[in-house]
Amino acid sequence: MVSLWLDNRGPIPWADRTSSDLGGSADVVVVGAGITGLITAVLLARAGKDVLVLEARTVAAGASGNTTAKLSLLQSTHLSKIITRHGKSTAQAYVQGNREGMDWVLRHCDEHGIDVQREAAYTYAQSARGVPSARAEWLACSAVGLPVTWEDRADVPFSFHGGVRLPDQAQFDPVPFLDSLVVELLDRGGRLAEHTRVRKVTAEGDGLRLYVNRGDGEQTAEGTEADAEVSAKQLVLATGIPILDRGGFFARLKPSRSYCMAYKVPGTITRPMMISTDSPTRSVRYAPTADGELLIVGGAGHTVGRKKSPTIALDELDQWTRKHYPGAEQTHFWSAQDYTPIDQLPYVGPILPNNEKIFVATGFNKWGMTNGPAAALALSSRMLGGRMDWAQAFASWSPHELSGLTTGLSANLEVGFNLAKGWVTPATRIGRRDPKQDEGGVVSGPPWNLQARCVVDGVEHIVSPVCTHLGGIVNWNDADKAWECPLHASRFAPDGTLLEGPATTDLTRTK
Ligand SMILES: Cc1cc2nc3c(=O)[nH]c(=O)nc-3n(C[C@H](O)[C@H](O)[C@H](O)COP(=O)(O)OP(=O)(O)OC[C@H]3O[C@@H](n4cnc5c(N)ncnc54)[C@H](O)[C@@H]3O)c2cc1C
Ligand code: FES
Repeated sequence: MVSLWLDNRGPIPWADRTSSDLGGSADVVVVGAGITGLITAVLLARAGKDVLVLEARTVAAGASGNTTAKLSLLQSTHLSKIITRHGKSTAQAYVQGNREGMDWVLRHCDEHGIDVQREAAYTYAQSARGVPSARAEWLACSAVGLPVTWEDRADVPFSFHGGVRLPDQAQFDPVPFLDSLVVELLDRGGRLAEHTRVRKVTAEGDGLRLYVNRGDGEQTAEGTEADAEVSAKQLVLATGIPILDRGGFFARLKPSRSYCMAYKVPGTITRPMMISTDSPTRSVRYAPTADGELLIVGGAGHTVGRKKSPTIALDELDQWTRKHYPGAEQTHFWSAQDYTPIDQLPYVGPILPNNEKIFVATGFNKWGMTNGPAAALALSSRMLGGRMDWAQAFASWSPHELSGLTTGLSANLEVGFNLAKGWVTPATRIGRRDPKQDEGGVVSGPPWNLQARCVVDGVEHIVSPVCTHLGGIVNWNDADKAWECPLHASRFAPDGTLLEGPATTDLTRTK
């Protein structure tokens, strides 16, 4: 399950330049080597800061290396939601931030010879049901001055009931871009450590002390001895969902996991980047590769840990693709997750009001290829004493959150419901299947002795299903072959090893 981008990666241009020595301290530690963390690190290094990037897995291992990688100011139906809730001037500020983020990426690609394809983007209705929201998006985009047009027809092989078109957007392969950021960071004296997971952060004098574990080894319990420590004056959490609970961002974000598939297709592939308004979502683009162009199709999204069998939606998407692109042969399949903020606007700024030491950047709602760079611009300018005019639309603490209160309450009621359900329901599942015989996973047992068992490639794993973040009960994802927490989206490998999410330790192994 490797993304097209990571599978096609050539020799890593910075491979022999990372150091195993963390150096003990840095002006700024950036946690997370995705698009947000790496651009933030480069911008701070350009300003002369001593920057250390810590990455739990590898560069691009998160959403940034597993994305569809469209760079677009037309973002599905997002702008009409923002304008309805926050008004025109905030929507304009949001678009301006994204525009500056996108321009930054395009300039960097141009300067570093990284391939970008300029194509139109569409938000379209695949049935009559989707027309009103496509029309609403057209009006919202027009209101903020985007040069959109309404199109009744488009040159696509699938059902099209009209849509909004924005010319001259872009798409790329994100991995060469991320690699070039690492090269610039290292050239400017910055440092990068992969396989280094931040577990805990405490105050230390005027600064901070970070406790980290290195390597891919087992880290089972809270309080596990850190195997390295680093001091920092400031810290940026560019980890998708923030890994520290301060600020309660996990309660303000709805995590959504979705899937991408790449196909070899006979004949011509759809040129514009398409995304449907009505469900099931269809996201389409093409990708040039050394072996010719591939079609990429995305969709089958679900709230992490709450879908009984993601495979069903995935099969449906695959069938849709084969129907509309006859002869399509799947070459790649991958997935990733991103976070929808309860009030539609990203959270970028201090983790707590007036805290100028720890910063977060999250809530990109699957549009982080432009929101991530915008976040990096907003954060780095703030940390260097400046300000972006549009940054109010990205604030981590501001009155705009109040408008998300109702959605936030209902999201947290759902979390509460899933917490209770996770602890009570598994008892009824005892004996439903024998995981020793079936590939797959199941949580079973009475609440006082729950077990998560799975068999993957004939190997059985038994772990505690109790999520090490705040005690949710994990569910099995049959498409990803992973345990997922339905509360705040921590994910674990079959053997309980932490993959991602706000948790910072593995599930407890019982076998
Ligand atoms: C399927 C899918 C398709 C998408 N398509 C698009 C698109 O077409 N256009 C678009 O604009 N956006 C798209 N997005 C959204 C976009 O990919 C993301 O918003 C963006 O990549 C987020 O980047 P990031 O750097 O903030 O986070 P990430 O890329 O997720 O990076 C976070 C990093 O932090 C690391 N980390 C986490 N915890 C720790 C820890 N404790 N210690 C150290 N490191 C840690 C992780 O390993 C990870 O590498 C898509 C998202 C998905 C899921
Ligand atoms: S991710 Fe919060 S309880 Fe599991």
